[in-house]
Amino acid sequence: MAYSEKVMDHFANPRNVGEIEDADGIGEVGNAKCGDIMKMYIKVDNDVITDVKFKTFGCGAAIATSSMATELIKGKSINDALKLTNKAVMEALDGLPPVKVHCSVLAEQAIKAAVSDYYKKRGVDPTLIVGEIKECDHDHGCGCQL
Ligand code: FES
Repeated sequence: MAYSEKVMDHFANPRNVGEIEDADGIGEVGNAKCGDIMKMYIKVDNDVITDVKFKTFGCGAAIATSSMATELIKGKSINDALKLTNKAVMEALDGLPPVKVHCSVLAEQAIKAAVSDYYKKRGVDPTLIVGEIKECDHDHGCGCQL
């Protein structure tokens, strides 16, 4: 199994690691298959994600995809952040080995969970905006081959 240079870089030097104490939204998701967990914190101003941090207790691919995902949504509108797919994150990393595709789903879902929390805190039902938050259970077309 070979990782791209970008994956290795984001694994060795992950961007935006940590917590935001006064976060506007916090999302935590788990991968049902491997037990890995990702927590994402966002600051929102005028519907723009002004800051984002994450903590991932997981494999190297999960750490690299979380790192890249935070870079891709920082400074973007909530709408754009919700459109970020695990495929786009993988492309930005020059790909992942097939057995690691499911790991990238964590980052996509953690963003959705953090945005859901942001809306809930403001008294808005996030279901229609964010949609369902899934775990990697092999039934949703994530491409997971484990
Ligand atoms: Fe669990 Fe990668 S093996 S997220």
